[in-house]
Amino acid sequence: MKPIRKAVFPVAGLGTRFLPATKAIPKEMLPIVDRPLIQYAVDEAREAGIEQMIFVTGRGKSAIEDHFDIAFELEKTMAERGKSLEVLEPTRLGPGNCAYVRQQEPLGLGHAIWCARAIVGDEPFAIFLPDEFMVGSPGCMKQMVEAYNRLGGNLISVLEVPRETVSSYGVIAPGARDGDITEVTGLVEKPKVEDAPSNLIISGRYILQPEVMRTLESQEKGAGGEIQLTDAMARMIGTQPFHAVTFAGKRYDCGSKAGYVQANLAIALGRDDMGAEIRAFALDLLK
Ligand code: G1P
Repeated sequence: MKPIRKAVFPVAGLGTRFLPATKAIPKEMLPIVDRPLIQYAVDEAREAGIEQMIFVTGRGKSAIEDHFDIAFELEKTMAERGKSLEVLEPTRLGPGNCAYVRQQEPLGLGHAIWCARAIVGDEPFAIFLPDEFMVGSPGCMKQMVEAYNRLGGNLISVLEVPRETVSSYGVIAPGARDGDITEVTGLVEKPKVEDAPSNLIISGRYILQPEVMRTLESQEKGAGGEIQLTDAMARMIGTQPFHAVTFAGKRYDCGSKAGYVQANLAIALGRDDMGAEIRAFALDLLK
């Protein structure tokens, strides 16, 4: 079984829900306290043993490339002033550890992943949707890689949501369940509530076999008139093992403003350097 060495981060989205904040900066660069969302996703990938980060970007997204580069002037000035550069350590991705490819038109998530096919090559790979902010120890992808090492094939992370909200997501038809692993017998992207096969949604982490690239090649448009990754995965069920992993940690939907604020509050409350101060402030505010 080939190990998971590469991860694809589709980051070409326009981020219209966060305007005007995202007019000139990518939504993936919005911070949770002091770390951009995309940095959390890359850290989660590293924790899972992944070495190469592949970003599918678009116009106006160059801040992401700068973030993972060396910041020469900043580092030189900080060093001269005797300041520690430790905080910048996780932001450095050398040439062997990152690659960027552009999705020129917004044709859907499936199309974005397909744009990375030449860099992914013929090996299984991970996908991270950075909007889905997963907090836990071990991280979501590490938990999935451990499951992959036992099961092989394809894996997606899932979580339960209130039934009335399923239409915003990809939904699984669940088969047999064994602890945190559920067999996937079907997949539907953004179903109507009454048609949804369950309330278990795909929560933004995937481990897929390279055959998905070939499947995407011939994928017709689906929900929202976009080429959907979910539809391509659905066509692979039955030809390869397909399982869902229920993540043991917390998930924040940072594609929504409320979820983003919740994530900031939760992370701030959990930090040694500010947790007590924020807690006292929040309690006072709620009085
Ligand atoms: C995408 C996927 C969907 C998944 C969701 C998670 O949808 O297509 O299957 O459940 O992310 O956030 P999007 O949010 O891009 O509409």
